[in-house]
Amino acid sequence: MISQYITEAMERSSWIRRMFDVGQEMKRKYGVENVYDLTLGNPLIEPPDKFFEVLATLSVNTSSGRHRYMSNAGFEDVRRKVAHYLTKNQILETEAEHIVMTIGVGGGLNVILKTILNPGDEVIILAPFFAEYVFYIQNHQGVVVIAETTTDFDLDLEEIDRKITEKTKAIIINSPNNPSGRLYSDERLNQFVDLLNQKQKQFRHDIYLISDEPYRDIVYDRVRAPSVCAKYDNSFFGYSWSKSLSIPGDRIGYIAANPKMTDIKKTMNGLIFSNRILGFINAPAVMQMAVGKLLYAHVKVSYYERKRDRIYQALVEAGYDVYKPEGTFYFFPKCPSDDEIEFINVAKENRVLLVPGRGFGRPGYFRIAYCTDDRTIERALDHLYDLPKKVKQ
Ligand SMILES: Cc1ncc(COP(=O)(O)O)c(C=O)c1O
Repeated sequence: MISQYITEAMERSSWIRRMFDVGQEMKRKYGVENVYDLTLGNPLIEPPDKFFEVLATLSVNTSSGRHRYMSNAGFEDVRRKVAHYLTKNQILETEAEHIVMTIGVGGGLNVILKTILNPGDEVIILAPFFAEYVFYIQNHQGVVVIAETTTDFDLDLEEIDRKITEKTKAIIINSPNNPSGRLYSDERLNQFVDLLNQKQKQFRHDIYLISDEPYRDIVYDRVRAPSVCAKYDNSFFGYSWSKSLSIPGDRIGYIAANPKMTDIKKTMNGLIFSNRILGFINAPAVMQMAVGKLLYAHVKVSYYERKRDRIYQALVEAGYDVYKPEGTFYFFPKCPSDDEIEFINVAKENRVLLVPGRGFGRPGYFRIAYCTDDRTIERALDHLYDLPKKVKQ
């Protein structure tokens, strides 16, 4: 008999996966091309050519020792390159010893939480949030505390102030944000960091900031994502190539700790040890070698930006109340119906698959993932145009 926790967690589990299963069934029934699936953040665009060229070069290199177990932190030369990249781009001034290569940033977040949490420690997440955060926190006996963001998904400093208690160990932020597409401004991040510093003084213990940034390189309008980790000493930066290189199946990312953090040496040893005992051991060798050569390669952001512009225009024309995302490949419009599930179901009857906002901790909204092809998007938009008229308002 499996554990009670997993039984219950699976029941509460991700609406995204649930909608994915519904989608699979509908695709079998109606044919793939007749179901307009906007549920999954699994990019359809292929990785850049450079990725395949690098893999081809790596595959013919038969010098010895390249595929053995290694330091649990990852290859030193790759970590040195990552640290150099972070420093040069003013994201976080680091050396190789502050980097741990991980199994995507999902693996990285689990490594951080395993390292810092005592049972009962509180971790604040901001709604709407990436649904897996809840489980990642509970994996390590942390307690999830939800703070709302503003109506346009910005950091609500008064709300965060209210939610920080003496049990708060960490706060996770994600900008640009899945699902809202919101990018926090430099100015707001400065105010946020001031608040965290003030709270650390008030409660006389460390409050860690975990900045989960897998969409950092998918930002539009030639904007650069501000670097919050450089502003706050007790910070962890998490990155992944899942989206920027379109390789989520290859499971590669890293975490970086701010060298000015309390007990940085001990923390790094803790992260490396946690990477090992979670059974990850180390990030995949081939992928580490590859990303070490691809630090400046990205999928074409213009590919997503064009889709963002098209969908935004169509949603506004159809009368949806929607925030224009500054990054990621998601929209999170307000539901035109009082009953969000009714809306999702009517969309489903029209073979348009969406994820309800409650899956992200904010009912009354729905998520569109547009990392898919134009035909699917156009057909879905045709239906989305009519949907507000088909549901109770
Ligand atoms: C906000 C956020 N964090 C973390 C992850 C996990 O990414 P990875 O594939 O690097 O584990 C995702 C994936 O969709 C995400 O959207």
